[in-house]
Amino acid sequence: MTVQPVVAVVGGGQLARMLAEAASPLGVHLRVLAADGDEGAGEVVTDVVRGDPDDEVALAAVAEGADVVTFDHENVDHAALESLEAAGVVVRPSVATLRCSDKAHQRRTFAAAGLPVPDFVVLDGTEPVVAAARGFAAAHGGRVVVKASRGGYDGRGVWMLSGDELEAFVDEWTGAPLVLEPELDLVGEVAVLVARRPSGEVATWPVVETVQVGGMCDEVVLPSGLDASLEATALDVARRVAEVAGAVGVLAVELFLVATPNGPTVLVNEVAPRVHNSGHLTIDACATSQFEQHLRAVLDWPLGPTDPLVPAATMVNVVGGADDDPRQRQAQALARVPGARIHLYGKTSRPGRKIGHVTVVGADRDATREQARLAADLLAGS
Ligand SMILES: Nc1ncnc2c1ncn2[C@@H]1O[C@H](COP(=O)(O)OP(=O)(O)OP(=O)(O)O)[C@@H](O)[C@H]1O
Ligand SMILES: [Mg+2]
Repeated sequence: MTVQPVVAVVGGGQLARMLAEAASPLGVHLRVLAADGDEGAGEVVTDVVRGDPDDEVALAAVAEGADVVTFDHENVDHAALESLEAAGVVVRPSVATLRCSDKAHQRRTFAAAGLPVPDFVVLDGTEPVVAAARGFAAAHGGRVVVKASRGGYDGRGVWMLSGDELEAFVDEWTGAPLVLEPELDLVGEVAVLVARRPSGEVATWPVVETVQVGGMCDEVVLPSGLDASLEATALDVARRVAEVAGAVGVLAVELFLVATPNGPTVLVNEVAPRVHNSGHLTIDACATSQFEQHLRAVLDWPLGPTDPLVPAATMVNVVGGADDDPRQRQAQALARVPGARIHLYGKTSRPGRKIGHVTVVGADRDATREQARLAADLLAGS
């Protein structure tokens, strides 16, 4: 008789791949539902169901015999998942938590819960959109950030606009509701990863600093550089976010740092109810990685310690350039940075596409930043 736990993952990208890498030593069998064009997990996972995440038949096939169904992305049809839940399949996080990946829903939910969020307005067609956008911009210095409530990632679906351009944009938009918020003068950005079990047991990793380039995460640094009291505030806000969202598994909370007369404070930017780019350095720098912790949490197993194992760590994403393969430059990168922990996802290199990451751990924050950057640049061929 086999007692091997089976975790089914909807999505077959790099997050599913890294979940599989964590599943192996735990003796957990990982199965993925991979759509055409999903790359990353296929090289590592032996049990792959091919199909779209919104196809009920494919979802039922990946869920068959699984202890739990979880996700590597949130673009899943909620009605199809609700049918699975109704049929008795354990889905973690739940459909209700997955709704929090909608930027309009999260802004409204977290504001209603008294969590600190930027000023915002949702344009969902319930009032004239051009007048609402004009009014919001006038009240906030003219320039606003416009966000598609669903379907955006890596800065796609985020636009900084003002004046006629803004009004024309909202007038012509036919997609999901838009969220408008002021363009904030950011002092910085940080992220907190939270893991939560169905029983409510919660673990957080130390706060990390995140650096975005062109709206996309470029670099993640531990420690965050925040003073102890702001770090405590960030952790507290993130825990409350996870509770309000009803998170099970890992949930990433991206926070803005903004100046106030009393010093910097945090606002919730967005949450992702899954393992996340801002937590990749936990693989090489922390007692339990976000990937192992996610599996433990969705299986309702005890959570692991999250302490850093090193004084400092930096992760830099490797982004595709020309249509060549970073694997051919690995030896060169390792020759220059022997301590680089290289994680390549086996994805086709395309400009702007995340195809891997590098983490460097060490005693000194700045030194890890330099070394990780050097290794990532060498791998990207830039
Ligand atoms: N209101 C704002 N004011 C200033 N900068 C902002 C604002 N909103 C977003 N940004 C910048 O744009 C980046 C991307 O925004 P956001 O996190 O909403 O988009 P995303 O595409 O969902 O992100 P991800 O890369 O996490 O998938 C933020 O990390 C931040 O650097
Ligand atoms: Mg973001």
